[in-house]
Amino acid sequence: MNDTNTPAWAAFAPEMFSGRTALVTGAAGGMGEQTALAFASYGAHVVATDRDTDGLQETLRRCREAGGGRHTAVTADLAAPEGIAEVFAAVDRYGDLDHVVTCAALITAESALDIDRAHWQKLFDVNVAGTFFVLQEAYRRMLTRGSGTVVAVGSDAGKRGGGGLIADAAYAASKASVLSVVKSFAREFAGTGVRVNALTPGPSDTPLHTGVSQDLKEKIGAGLPIGRMGRADELAAAALFLSGPGAAFVYGASFNVDGGSMFE
Ligand SMILES: NC(=O)c1ccc[n+]([C@@H]2O[C@H](COP(=O)([O-])OP(=O)(O)OC[C@H]3O[C@@H](n4cnc5c(N)ncnc54)[C@H](O)[C@@H]3O)[C@@H](O)[C@H]2O)c1
Repeated sequence: MNDTNTPAWAAFAPEMFSGRTALVTGAAGGMGEQTALAFASYGAHVVATDRDTDGLQETLRRCREAGGGRHTAVTADLAAPEGIAEVFAAVDRYGDLDHVVTCAALITAESALDIDRAHWQKLFDVNVAGTFFVLQEAYRRMLTRGSGTVVAVGSDAGKRGGGGLIADAAYAASKASVLSVVKSFAREFAGTGVRVNALTPGPSDTPLHTGVSQDLKEKIGAGLPIGRMGRADELAAAALFLSGPGAAFVYGASFNVDGGSMFE
């Protein structure tokens, strides 16, 4: 939150998502939690999912406080086909699916010399397959109605490479793949009424970096053009913009929300 405790996503028109159904993955904390709360605040019914049951229940509680839609939480491992099936079974109990924001991801920070196959596979199962198969199921539903929006969360590491202090080569490659998945859906389903974009955050102070010291976070923030790390509510604000009518002409993009880390 900023100094006034107002989340960055509080800037949109009231009831912007009234009566819409929004699926948010990775909703137990960080950006996903803020995105779920933001959708709920603007009148949406929220289907929140994560593998972390406790965090998810807290998000559900906060969504119910924030908005009068019907909200539900589904604990699921998106790296597993059964997890994807459970999430969409819950979605189908709501009826039409209008918006999807995929935030679920794992991060690792090993030297490229130490990454073994199990490490590589795990990152790709969660970050790439866990995104691709959510998009596939979402598109199956949205295409029949010719409407819907999808925001898949990538990363600056997917554009710049990993190998830094907080993200490694496997994470970076998985996030580059997310950008490619978005472009493929955008290309194959152009003109169908379903709008898809990637959101590419830069370093942000969220539970993703729980193992990173405060000192290092401050150094990383100071190294960004804006002079600090991002916040989960700021990432959520961009996800809401991309999901809303103000982004009607934004398509197949990778939208940087990064404090300037990727400016050219
Ligand atoms: N925070 C940053 O600096 C940063 C920078 C670039 C990109 N991102 C991306 O932003 C998105 C949101 O991350 P965040 O910063 O809010 O971190 P976060 O750790 O708070 O959120 C990620 C969520 O994904 C969930 N998750 C992990 N594996 C899962 C699985 N197999 N099935 C279901 N859920 C699973 C976690 O439980 C967690 O709640 C992620 O895609 C992340 O890669 C974050």
